[in-house]
Amino acid sequence: MTHPVLTALGLSGTESGTYLGNGEWATTADAGILEPINPTDGEVLARVQASSQADYEKIVERAQAAFKVWRNTPAPRRGEAVRLCADALREHKDALGSLVALEMGKSKPEGDGEVQEMIDIGEFAVGLSRQLYGLTMHSERPGHRMYEQWHPLGIVGIISAFNFPVAVWAWNALVAAACGDICIWKPSPKTPLSAIASVRICNEALKKGGFPDIFFLFNDAGTDLAQTFVDDKRIALVSFTGSTKVGRHVGERVAKRMGRSLLELGGNNAMIVDATADLKLAIPAIVFGAVGTAGQRCTTTRRAFIHESIFDDVLAKLVAAYKQVEGKTGDPMDPANLMGPLNSQDGVKAYLAAIEKAKAAGGKVETGGAAVDRKGNFVLPTIITGLANDSEVVQTETFAPILYVMKFSNLDDAIDMQNDVPQGLSSAIFTQNLKAAEQFLSVRGSDCGIANVNIGTSGAEIGGAFGGEKETGGGRESGSDAWRAYMRRQTNTINYSDELPLAQGIKFDL
Ligand code: UN1
Repeated sequence: MTHPVLTALGLSGTESGTYLGNGEWATTADAGILEPINPTDGEVLARVQASSQADYEKIVERAQAAFKVWRNTPAPRRGEAVRLCADALREHKDALGSLVALEMGKSKPEGDGEVQEMIDIGEFAVGLSRQLYGLTMHSERPGHRMYEQWHPLGIVGIISAFNFPVAVWAWNALVAAACGDICIWKPSPKTPLSAIASVRICNEALKKGGFPDIFFLFNDAGTDLAQTFVDDKRIALVSFTGSTKVGRHVGERVAKRMGRSLLELGGNNAMIVDATADLKLAIPAIVFGAVGTAGQRCTTTRRAFIHESIFDDVLAKLVAAYKQVEGKTGDPMDPANLMGPLNSQDGVKAYLAAIEKAKAAGGKVETGGAAVDRKGNFVLPTIITGLANDSEVVQTETFAPILYVMKFSNLDDAIDMQNDVPQGLSSAIFTQNLKAAEQFLSVRGSDCGIANVNIGTSGAEIGGAFGGEKETGGGRESGSDAWRAYMRRQTNTINYSDELPLAQGIKFDL
């Protein structure tokens, strides 16, 4: 029987995973089947028909044709199209939020929150459509004007991960659409239904508004189509969210063909809690940061550095809070629960393997440390102490609710340890000491793309540029001027004089 959450969005037990444009969903039945699994009970939610090479070709050809129309559409008019998508998403927020919770396994409020991020970035992009500003410069030559303008890139490829199955697409797609690009999306094979529903909602809104197709979708049963996508010269920008391992491969392949890539890869985010910290804020921030989304955000808090003078007290408070979360771990659709299952059995295996490694390295499990004996992919939220920051398991991002709690005695050491990992996404300090806060934010402070004071590492707002340094990939998405990644800059110089002066005073008399 089809799950009622699917039915509410008009989805059935068998769905096409390919949107070809012109209102057409492919009927391809021989390119493999994806079977998204409900992480809460292990049941298959639906069968999704994967896309064929021929489907992919058709999509890219149609996207190319669509770009010719879309690039000529004035940007504020493109913003109007995005506004309709944001409105439609608002209308379907509850249903889509439930589908995200069901298919990904995050709590219902977090599923709804993800759809809220789609709406918010949509509204941001509407405003942006009137603010795609370039600079004007003063030319060194008389009678000359110099300025820069931003043109759309063309086709933007979006490869998204299971943990944010819809919001990350919207960060890219709605901004790129306002910028004049056409988007082709390859979602995670674990969450194709959320992708299908999102594309449907947006495409219906576009159609009603008389807009052309700007969002295409394909699903890959294996990795062949994804490879074709990454290597395809017609895809001007590949925006990839996922592991550092795969992201490195994507970045290399795209660079080889001189394409552009935008990489949002792993994090190994830390929180520093100094002796002056307000623990009424710090404790819930650590707990939400570490166990929210069952530790499957790239911004999840994975390491906590606690000042030695408050270490025992903070640890005791954390363990007590974790016991409460344990009691509120269960079906993500039940709003009473704070933590749902991991998305997949692979996730559970990685969680168990990390705990074994931590123990072998001398780590002490303070709470949690085991899978839950019930249907689905449930694990206990876990705190481990006694490991050094440079131990291998602490240096590695494990996508699960495991927090390594460590001690420090002076802030310089804490900042050094927080920076001393391959990743550089998010970071936070809890302090009431102005000097400590400013040092943390200064050039000798956090080396991450995101650095917060008295708020946690996760839950970034869409208004800021989102992304990180080092092995996190360097990309920036979402707010601020992240839109520039989706456009190409052109510098223009216009001579309105009767002379042809050369730059740098060069004389070239014929
Ligand atoms: C991600 O985990 O891939 O900061 C994105 C946050 C969210 C985005 C996370 N707004 O937690």
